[in-house]
Amino acid sequence: MSLPITQSQIPPEIIDLGAGEPNQSVFPLDMIRRAAEERFSQGDPSFLQYGAEQGDGYFRLALAKFLSQGYGLPMNPENIFITAGISSALDLLCTLFTQAGDTIFVEETTYFVAPKIFADHHLKIVPIAMDENGLVIESLEENLKRYKPKFLYTIPIHHNPTGSTLTDARRARLIELAQQFDFLILADEVYQLLSYTEDSPKPFAAHTDANAENIVSLGSFSKILAPGLRLGWIQSQPQRIKRLVTSGLLDSGGGMNPFTSAIIRSVIECGDLKNHVHHLIETYRPRLQKMDLLLRQHLTEITYTVPKGGYFFWLRFPRQIDAIELRQQAKTFKVDFRQGALFSSTGGSQNCIRLCFAHYDEEHIEEGILRLKECLEIR
Ligand SMILES: Cc1ncc(COP(=O)(O)O)c(C=O)c1O
Repeated sequence: MSLPITQSQIPPEIIDLGAGEPNQSVFPLDMIRRAAEERFSQGDPSFLQYGAEQGDGYFRLALAKFLSQGYGLPMNPENIFITAGISSALDLLCTLFTQAGDTIFVEETTYFVAPKIFADHHLKIVPIAMDENGLVIESLEENLKRYKPKFLYTIPIHHNPTGSTLTDARRARLIELAQQFDFLILADEVYQLLSYTEDSPKPFAAHTDANAENIVSLGSFSKILAPGLRLGWIQSQPQRIKRLVTSGLLDSGGGMNPFTSAIIRSVIECGDLKNHVHHLIETYRPRLQKMDLLLRQHLTEITYTVPKGGYFFWLRFPRQIDAIELRQQAKTFKVDFRQGALFSSTGGSQNCIRLCFAHYDEEHIEEGILRLKECLEIR
């Protein structure tokens, strides 16, 4: 008998090019063990106590230094609030800043489980169009004439699923519109630090000073260290952080994940996290390049934009191809992916699929793409 431990289990005979979680082979077990040993050897049990509401102050300090280096901008620990990951952050933000029936804007397409969190809060989703440069500002402006959203949920860099990144000009206009129409920008920057080229835009976290009231940046350790840590952060201006800190959830339970924070503080302070992120970038960049090469060689009927970071390729097939049917056929060839419609709140993107280049090594990527090619050939 085997009891469930992990959220998803890929049968060993299948190459699941859709899987969006890190491969367990990149989890630095020894690094975390060393950090835990160091923390335990200090003989200070305070990290087993209810934690400070905003998050362990020393952890926030270490995180702010790490982010300042990674983002290339000074980050203030006072503007950081520790979360149990982006999913829990979104849930808390919905609790505090929305009411059932409120309208929110979500990119069409989006990270497919975020709308489930919004549905838990009975929010009304209005889709905003995207293109290869991220959110389309004209679509946002058009919808702002009709709706008064509480927030826009956006993945501005190395988007899941499309891989696109919002340009600087669009970012500037979006910030203006958020101020003018008084809605929050919830910027999910989970892939900001996984950039494989030098030309990434600065994160929305760069604007979380006192004057940028409407910006909330969401970060996570899930893709730069391990999702099982359930650890992340929110960056926003002090008044908004204060509202988070005074929520009933934290008043009762204390700050989120003080135990994990204390261990990860050691991982950051000794420089291991910086080295690990570097290692991930060096691991994922050649996987991206390999997948790109194979797609160009073998899947001639598709169009796509090459991502510059993150995890995903977004492939567009000719209109007549239905990705759900294709996925069904792919089972015979022991290869899997995610159909585009999964990421749509309008039932769109039916001829699109999401592939992840980060989960498998180059050899498996090659085998997976060849299986997909075979599947397409016999259709
Ligand atoms: C865009 C995006 N946001 C959030 C998450 C999940 O973040 P967390 O594990 O911190 O809840 C993911 C994971 O795939 C993601 O792709």
